[in-house]
Amino acid sequence: MTLLPETDHGTPQATSEQTVSLTIDGRTVTVPEGTSVMRAASEAGISIPKLCATESLKAFGSCRLCLVEIEGRKGTPSSCTTPVAAGMTVATQTPRLAALRRGVMELYISDHPLDCLTCAANGDCELQDMAGAVGLREVRYGYEGANHLSAEKDTSNPYFTFDPAKCIVCSRCVRACAETQGTFALTIDGRGFAAAVTAGQGQDVLDSECVSCGACVQACPTATLMEKSVIDHGQPTHAVLTTCAYCGVGCSFKAEMQGETVVRMVPHTDGGANEGHSCVKGRFAWGYATHPDRVTTPMIRARITDAWRPVSWDEAIAFAAARFKAIRAEYGADAIGGITSSRCTNEEVFVVQKMIRAAFGTNNVDTCARVCHAPTGYGLKQTFGTSAGTQDFRSVEAADVILLIGANPTDGHPVFASRMKRRLRAGAKLIVADPRRIDLVRSPHVEATHHLALRPGTNVALINALAHVVMTEGLADRAFIADRCDPSSFAEWAAFITDPRHAPEALEPITGVPAADVRAAARLYATGGNGAIYYGLGITEHSQGSTAVMGLANLAMATGNIGRPGVGVNPLRGQNNVQGSCDMGSFPHELSGYRPVSDEAVRAQFQAVWGVAVGAEPGLRLPNMLDAAVDGRFRGMFIQGEDIAQSDPNTRHVRAALEAMDCVVIQDLFLNETAAFAHVFLPGTSFLEKDGTFTNAERRINRVRPVMRPKTGKHEWQVACDLATALGYPMHYDHPSGIMDEIAALTPTFAGVSFEKLDRLGSVQWPCTDAAPAGTPIMHRDHFVRGEGRFMVTAFVPTEERTSRAFPLILTTGRILTQYNVGAQTRRTANVAWHAEDVLEIHPHDAEQRGIRDGDRVSLASRMGATSLTARLTDRVPQGVVYTTFHHPETAANVVTTEHSDWATNCPEYKVTAVQVTRANLRTGDDAPPVAAE
Ligand code: SF4
Ligand code: SF4
Ligand code: SF4
Ligand code: FES
Repeated sequence: MTLLPETDHGTPQATSEQTVSLTIDGRTVTVPEGTSVMRAASEAGISIPKLCATESLKAFGSCRLCLVEIEGRKGTPSSCTTPVAAGMTVATQTPRLAALRRGVMELYISDHPLDCLTCAANGDCELQDMAGAVGLREVRYGYEGANHLSAEKDTSNPYFTFDPAKCIVCSRCVRACAETQGTFALTIDGRGFAAAVTAGQGQDVLDSECVSCGACVQACPTATLMEKSVIDHGQPTHAVLTTCAYCGVGCSFKAEMQGETVVRMVPHTDGGANEGHSCVKGRFAWGYATHPDRVTTPMIRARITDAWRPVSWDEAIAFAAARFKAIRAEYGADAIGGITSSRCTNEEVFVVQKMIRAAFGTNNVDTCARVCHAPTGYGLKQTFGTSAGTQDFRSVEAADVILLIGANPTDGHPVFASRMKRRLRAGAKLIVADPRRIDLVRSPHVEATHHLALRPGTNVALINALAHVVMTEGLADRAFIADRCDPSSFAEWAAFITDPRHAPEALEPITGVPAADVRAAARLYATGGNGAIYYGLGITEHSQGSTAVMGLANLAMATGNIGRPGVGVNPLRGQNNVQGSCDMGSFPHELSGYRPVSDEAVRAQFQAVWGVAVGAEPGLRLPNMLDAAVDGRFRGMFIQGEDIAQSDPNTRHVRAALEAMDCVVIQDLFLNETAAFAHVFLPGTSFLEKDGTFTNAERRINRVRPVMRPKTGKHEWQVACDLATALGYPMHYDHPSGIMDEIAALTPTFAGVSFEKLDRLGSVQWPCTDAAPAGTPIMHRDHFVRGEGRFMVTAFVPTEERTSRAFPLILTTGRILTQYNVGAQTRRTANVAWHAEDVLEIHPHDAEQRGIRDGDRVSLASRMGATSLTARLTDRVPQGVVYTTFHHPETAANVVTTEHSDWATNCPEYKVTAVQVTRANLRTGDDAPPVAAE
């Protein structure tokens, strides 16, 4: 077993295409221009001692350990800050250098506790290594003088400690926080002997700006910043490369282990999505996987009012199969169905949708993407021809203007946000379109050029106004349009969009955004160089979600911002495998690869491999399944890893539907809210037990590898196979790689994918085919997948959800960095230190009108229902808008959300709900206004 060591060449790789040759210790070395002497040496296998240098950060030159001698130059320059030059002759090991390095190390060690044997970093400490490398044998200065050995340890962060006694003030942590993470939470205070790392005067780490990404811990060469899990367990003995199971960024991690115990998760430098960075969730919040709340035994019950009865796998499978069969016999196959999970692997999702189609005998399969990014699938398919984002994450490094609309990446997609912030600090311009003042509007060293604070529900109007300016001010890329797009769709759209009713001035009363700002933003996007659009659920979760996605695609085509690095239309997808669950045929009208069930040739392919007929009619979507359940027409459901009783809109309706069914089977880690309505509970596996693949928001297929055996005794794909077999459709695979082989055989965009290739290349981005065997980082390069790009007319139709006297405010919802989705995982970790409850953000003016003070308990009521939560007064939200998260079941934020949904895909309109907010538990004499009648 190995810890998968990664070589640290000390300074970042140079990108120049010009090369330079030099001699280091008598060897001729050729490297790209701009490479440091340290890196050139390292790449040639010559190791120069270092402490303040690390490959992920710019050279700093403070420790003076990496000194070298260069022929013809005076002194002993530091190799980390000295670029190579043609013909240079370098010596890295001379008696003079050895003496100097020992002297430097002696000074460090004289102010360092000598507790190596009992230190948590013993064996994984660069200071220790360097003392050995320079041959330090004694410290002449003694330890009696002034030192930092009694400095107080900061243990406030739940996941790592800061022990200043061990700090060598190399500044790697400070630079990591600035350069890698972009938070700037740390500084070096004082000078000389008094210099010390601080998270703010008198402030501990927990109370500081720190977002616990772990970059500083990763960068620290000593035990100063140390994972508590390593302090508790000791050093890991082996590592397994796997993928984070939280968000759609899809970060790669080394799970560092002792036996089957995770000691820590270390972001993998070669991870295509994260390149060595992480956020607090993937880096630290994995404890839920072994939380005592996990249910690991199958359970059944005849009625949902009965107590659960733990049973064997065989009994649970037989019970579920008997119930499904009984429903099928009485009501037909279309009275049952299921939903797949975007938290599960591609292989697990594929077998569940196969089980539903082949063993249940129905196309009634849907996925949680229905409630998040279904409009992305629809909108991008209509315009570009494929249901996925156009770029890889790295593309943002070539963007000149970023239009960020309806997304809050610093909370929702933090590792991508760090990458984006790096580009913004390097000079790219940012346009934020969001009702709320999200962090990126203004954060350290990043400021949006424009913040278009539109009214919730007016995305399409705003996007149309932007496009109107592009078209009427002569900013369109006519050559691109003529060359790449369908002329008749363009002509129709151009006539539509140039109509004066789409002028920013005409739409200002609707969007609330000053026309001048819209015009300036449109000009910037169209003429500022490479324009890249990034969007999230703030675009899709609307009654016009699909229209807005098509509007963004129109905008990108009209300005020629498609088909090269730095541009594109990029959905920031929510769950770890939401892209994959859609790719795998989880929609009722599509088989894997987004091919319609109505296409006979497509069906024939599947039928040949599956040996069973596949229905030609699309099945029911999730909301339709729930409606049919309430009507008594839909009676049994298999729910893979979703908590629809908490996550779906109009909770009362969802619960009524679940309650009405004869057989609800849940496969999950925990007894979630939905399990209260289930008859069969099949315990699921965490990502640490899974063997398969996840596909992230940039279409990157990453391997998920097990670090422990399934705590349930069965892999989830085996459970689906067993249930299908019990239903009379024998289904068997020897290994998940066999499932991927079937996916590849049946899905053109996955044709070249196999576990063997993924293990060899690390990851690939689909389409992965004979024509693109290593995958496709950027799509639509020479032509669109559908041939010509199609412009779509995007008429703005206001939502039916309206404010009134009784419900005068608009509620919009979102996420917070430390929690995830309905919180099933993150609430079972120390992340609750940051977000123990959902709060309601309300503008001080709206609060004052209602007699609400910061911290008051308030009632939040809509036409659908009411809940209560704590108010936080802030001008991050504009007047008339309130905002909350939905991570805690106690809040039950979806009790108030409505059943309005996207016209094309039924994606719920989570982002616009008319509400009233009042102080809860008013005391006598309090004067909050009563709720008015509508
Ligand atoms: S954990 Fe991340 S945000 Fe916090 S101080 Fe370290 S680098 Fe900065
Ligand atoms: S905490 Fe670690 S990385 Fe930061 S200055 Fe001290 S030794 Fe260097
Ligand atoms: S950014 Fe997303 S994928 Fe990456 S570590 Fe955080 S939660 Fe995991
Ligand atoms: S490693 Fe070069 S000066 Fe520290």
